[in-house]
Order: sequence, then structure tokens, then C-alpha cells
Amino acid sequence: MILLDGKMVSQKCMKGLKEKISNFTIRPSLSVIRVGEDQASEIYVNLKRKMCEELGINFTEHHLNANITQDELEGLIDQLNLDDNINAILLQSPIPSHLNVMQAFKKISPEKDVDGFCTMNVGKLVQGEDCFVACTPLGIMKLLDAYQVELSGKNAVVIGRSNIVGRPMAQLLLNADCTVTICHSKTQNLKEITKMADILIVAIGKPKLITADMVKEGAIVVDVGINRVAGSKKIYGDVDFEQVKDKCSYITPVPGGVGPMTIATLMNNIVIAYEKQHSKR
Ligand code: GUN
Repeated sequence: MILLDGKMVSQKCMKGLKEKISNFTIRPSLSVIRVGEDQASEIYVNLKRKMCEELGINFTEHHLNANITQDELEGLIDQLNLDDNINAILLQSPIPSHLNVMQAFKKISPEKDVDGFCTMNVGKLVQGEDCFVACTPLGIMKLLDAYQVELSGKNAVVIGRSNIVGRPMAQLLLNADCTVTICHSKTQNLKEITKMADILIVAIGKPKLITADMVKEGAIVVDVGINRVAGSKKIYGDVDFEQVKDKCSYITPVPGGVGPMTIATLMNNIVIAYEKQHSKR
């Protein structure tokens, strides 16, 4: 079994980005919108701030009151879309339930949409065109590529159909010539499907859902889960790592697998946004 070491691969990627940014005359800039007081979001946004500071990317946060209206949220997005000093915009989800997050994502200008969540970027991904792609699935592709994992013709099974991970993940694997199956909460006989997977991507948010009996011998297993279990400080993945590890050819650890690749991919997307915008000026 080979560990897919996202921490190591992401550090290499960040080093390259830092060097590249140091040659820019103007710094790239990211603007993050956070609404309300979601604790996990605060942690993630602070992590993004720290990484931006480390690389020399200007970071601004708009922390909005939980009871703002959809119009006020979209007004801020419009303002950031028009601001030439801002290269990249990220609306941290979740946001309070009276707001429509998908409608807000759609408002972000495709050129600044480093999350790849707006309709234009999702449509381009489906049609196999160059575009911004959601950072977690794209980070997973970069991690597999770093270990020269062959994808063409493989059976890939994605568990989870979220707009943030499952759907773009399945699309990227399809674009890489995998035969793709998407499983979700209503899927029947999950084990029969997962046992067929040469590549198994798990993004369902249930600690230790995937046990050894569900995994094909020699499979490549990618665990997107970040589960906090009551009474424990440890973070658990969606895969029972100890059980599954000896059955796999490759597996990601939690933490230190997918998480760091997501952040590094976001930083890379910010630099791409910056370069594209500056080449037009
Ligand atoms: N919430 C959980 N993951 C993400 C992400 O990748 N981007 C944004 N904007 N919000 C998230």
C-alpha cells in the first residue's frame, strides 16, 4: 500500500506558487465572504487567510451579519465583481438557510470564481472546456497525477453527489476516461457497487462508512471525509483506514490527504485568475 501524501504534494505546489508570486509586480488578491457564525467556516477561512499570507496573496474577508438579505449579499458580490483590485472571490458555505447559496454562487463573475461553482464554470467542466474547477475534486486529480495513477479505462465510483465534491469529481474522472458510477444516500446495494471500484472516492460525511469488505483488492481509495465525533478531538474520515489500508494499492490518510490539496488548489486557482486578468489589461 502506498500512502497518497497530500501534505507533501501540497507543500511542493505551494513552494512553486510562492516563487511565482514573488516575481509578480502586483500581488494577487482574494476576497472571502463569510456570513454568520458557523464555527467550521471560521476555521477554514482562517486557514485560507494564513495560506494567502504565506504565499504573498492579499486576503480580505467580508464577515456579514447572519440576518443580511439575499439582495445585500448579492450587492456585495456585484461590488467585488467590478473591483479591478480583486482577482478572486469566494463565498464560504454553508450560509444561513434563509439565503439561497446557489443563486449567490451564480452571481460571482466566472473570471473570479476560483471555487468553480458558478453556472458558466460548471457548464464548461461538463463540456470538457478549460475553466475553474472546484478545489477539492481538482486537488484529488492533482494528487493522483503526482503519483502517476493511471485513470483511463478504470472503474471509478464516487460516493456523494454534492455540488462541491461529488458531481465535479465524477465529471473530472469522466473527462479522464474513467467509467464512472455516482452513489448517494438513496443508492441500493452500495457494497456491490463499491466492490467493483478500481478507484473509490468517498465524500459522504459518515465516519468509517467504508469497511474492508466493501473494497476491491488493489483499489485506489480517496477519503474526502472530515468528521468530528462527539467526545473525541480526532478527525475521522469516511473510510475505516485501519481496516481498509492493507487491501488498497493507494490510500489517502485523514488528516494529511485531501484537505491540504484543496487549499493548495485554491491558491493555484487564485494565481490562474490573476494571470488571466492581467494578460487582458
Ligand atoms: N464549504 C465547504 N467546502 C467549500 C469550498 O470548497 N468552497 C466554499 N466556498 N465553501 C465550502
